[in-house]
Amino acid sequence: MPKVTIDNQTIEVPEGTTILEAARMIGGPSVPPAMCYYSKLAGTGGYCRTCIVKVTKGSEKDPRPMPKPVPSCRQTVMDGMEVQNLTSPDLLEARAGVVEFLLINHPLDCPICDQAGECDLQNLGYENGKQATRYEFPRRTFDMIDIGDKIKLHMNRCILCYRCVKTADQLCPGRVHGVISRGDVSEISTYIENAVDNEMSGNMIDVCPVGALTDRTFRFKSRVWFTKPMDAHRNCDKCCGKTVLWMSGEEVYRITARKNKYGEVEEWICNECRFEKKSRNDWTIEGPRHIDRHSVISQNHYEQLSQLKVDISKQKQLLEKAHNPETINSNQI
Ligand code: SF4
Ligand code: SF4
Ligand code: FES
Repeated sequence: MPKVTIDNQTIEVPEGTTILEAARMIGGPSVPPAMCYYSKLAGTGGYCRTCIVKVTKGSEKDPRPMPKPVPSCRQTVMDGMEVQNLTSPDLLEARAGVVEFLLINHPLDCPICDQAGECDLQNLGYENGKQATRYEFPRRTFDMIDIGDKIKLHMNRCILCYRCVKTADQLCPGRVHGVISRGDVSEISTYIENAVDNEMSGNMIDVCPVGALTDRTFRFKSRVWFTKPMDAHRNCDKCCGKTVLWMSGEEVYRITARKNKYGEVEEWICNECRFEKKSRNDWTIEGPRHIDRHSVISQNHYEQLSQLKVDISKQKQLLEKAHNPETINSNQI
């Protein structure tokens, strides 16, 4: 099995593993961001370039470095390969350039965008972007396309990651939509209208890393960080029936698939579970969802709040000890 070293951490991985997957096996901050790769969908990756890394040693057999940054979601590991991500300032500068390009035409919609708070582009911009834009031209805009009453397409926010195209292609029978035109006028084709009738089409909302595809049944109902995510399940003959209910009190505002720490859906869910079962009584609630992400949602999460309470009570105890003369005396003794 080939061995690869990423940011000075060595791991042995199965033949054919990509650098990105190897980094995910190691875990932690060295995992490159990925805006288009999606491990649950075949043929994804290679579009956005956010996952670039610097290969300083190609392999044991051919130790020459690779001349340019490579997309880690596409490049497979070779035995003896050495890779830099966070440990290369040049690479981080190059990634900041990629983020700058992704944001060139992106609207400043965050205050009104339903994806805010769980947006991969927001996180990417915050962690890898620059504070200001150098772009002085009008931003590219598209005409609104109505794709039905369940999914909203907001093409101006699309970063052309192709994830929704692959989802439609692989989950909804028959190829129904894709990207048309080239360069900065490329757009998701209007044939997406035909895809939304399929009973698995709602998964396009979950795979979209930005607010280009959002749930119309949830739109403008609440900011996502005001809702309480709860794991829930029901018996469903079309999908796994395992979801997250985004609740406010007893009301179910939104239903999504469960996502892992890389923001990828664990199991696909059908449109009936996603859009039709909006009553709490339709579901067996398992408990609060663990959200292991940097988003503002996890900042308000109960587990963290209860941890905070423990930390505060620990701090209180320490302070009380510090102000207790007996403790001070006994410590001094
Ligand atoms: S898609 Fe993300 S970055 Fe873009 S406007 Fe919406 S929240 Fe902001
Ligand atoms: S609509 Fe969303 S998922 Fe589809 S290509 Fe655009 S950004 Fe990607
Ligand atoms: S995640 Fe690798 S190119 Fe987009």
